[in-house]
Amino acid sequence: MRQGLESAAGAFMKRAMTRIAYVNGRYLPRSAANVSIDDRASYFGDGVYEVCLVSGGRLIDEARHMARLGRSLEATRIGWPVTRDALAKILREIIDRNRVSHGIVYLQISRGVARRDHAFPPPDVAPSLVVTARPLAKTRNATLAATGIAVISVPDIRWGRVDIKTISLLPNVLAKQAAIDEGARDAWFVDRDGNVTEGASANAWIVTAAGTVVTRPADHAILRGVTRTVLFEAIKALGLTVEERPFALAEAYAAREAFATSATQIVVPVVRIDGRPIGDGKPGPVATALGRAFHQFAEQG
Ligand code: PDD
Repeated sequence: MRQGLESAAGAFMKRAMTRIAYVNGRYLPRSAANVSIDDRASYFGDGVYEVCLVSGGRLIDEARHMARLGRSLEATRIGWPVTRDALAKILREIIDRNRVSHGIVYLQISRGVARRDHAFPPPDVAPSLVVTARPLAKTRNATLAATGIAVISVPDIRWGRVDIKTISLLPNVLAKQAAIDEGARDAWFVDRDGNVTEGASANAWIVTAAGTVVTRPADHAILRGVTRTVLFEAIKALGLTVEERPFALAEAYAAREAFATSATQIVVPVVRIDGRPIGDGKPGPVATALGRAFHQFAEQG
């Protein structure tokens, strides 16, 4: 009897914890949520995506993420699967249905489902939309901020339009795994001129010996991170000098501090690059201050 009650409680808990995904017009338990094998996302990586932070149950910097999504769709000539208003409602709904207070929302739009052919499908093929949400441990970012991470450098072998947030991420996947295989946490891409472009899933920054914050200009060689954009405001407010210019890997080795930014981790101090300690090998005051200041400048939905 007691066992029966316990398993009933377990089943209830499991039901209560079921993660819900949105797939092309339907909210489904994740285990039942599928896309077609003919989705162009799986054949060609023919799609774009966004990752937004959720804090206090609200989307952070939604407008900037949606603006970037619009630019990615335009650049790839993929249509909006639903109106912007409808998408905003779906994002809210997926946060609520998954009871995410602190976590992330992932959204992906592909060119749709069609017989495999490199050329675009006929215009009546609708783009596919997938939206998921999951909680993140609240302590995770605080731990990362306190300890910092090690990164390795890898050649930037990506295509020439990484400013588009496409789901074709094979070089990023290989770079991240190479980092993990070497006991590091992330990889920083280095272009043919020896300059750092960005991380496998984050923008790259350094602080020079003179205290200037440096990051690469947002040209076609990096993704214009939403966190990066907001951080400029925090940098200004803290009275720091910032330069948008390419910086060499050698300059990063010799930097006083280095750090990475992304929507999921905000500001993460980089304390080692290719095994070399950066500054004193500990999270620096600039990265720490910017990480603390960030949320004053981010937009809460
Ligand atoms: N990645 N550069 C790359 C290559 C990225 O993949 C990301 C984000 C960023 C930072 O962008 P933002 O500040 O807007 O998150 C820069 C997300 C988090 C991901 O792929 O999971």
